[in-house]
Amino acid sequence: MAKMKVLVLNGPNLGRLGVREPDVYGHQNLHQLARQCTQWANDLGFSVEVRQSDDEAEVIHWIHEAVDNHNPVILNPAAFTHYSYGLADAAAQLHTADLPLIEVHISNPASREAFRRHSVISPVATSTITGLGFVGYKLALEAIGELEK
Ligand code: DQA
Repeated sequence: MAKMKVLVLNGPNLGRLGVREPDVYGHQNLHQLARQCTQWANDLGFSVEVRQSDDEAEVIHWIHEAVDNHNPVILNPAAFTHYSYGLADAAAQLHTADLPLIEVHISNPASREAFRRHSVISPVATSTITGLGFVGYKLALEAIGELEK
């Protein structure tokens, strides 16, 4: 049987990890996150593709791809979390297709500025993991492993 593939999608400014507010997001960069996700997924017996875009349309198209190819998704929507109804509508299609969508945030948005306390993605996500740094992605991969058994 072919290995399950999980898409790990990251929204705007997450390409700046390591440089961007390291006190909030840590000192490791996106490349290091991708390496760790690949290792964690290997250990769990599935594959991952880690992607990042600052472009809302591109992230929406990646969600469509996941729906069409039946790939579970881990999504850090970054700032799109708080206002992108287009991304929420795409995410709802994963829900309809019965595919897991785990929303991950490196920081804990609930403990930060007021505008970060609302997510338009959470209502259509299977689960949301916040405030655990890169470990949140590991837990999301483990959750998908359990859900897709
Ligand atoms: C973030 C939190 C968002 O509020 C913010 O816009 C980000 C990153 C996080 O991973 O903690 O860009 O999603």
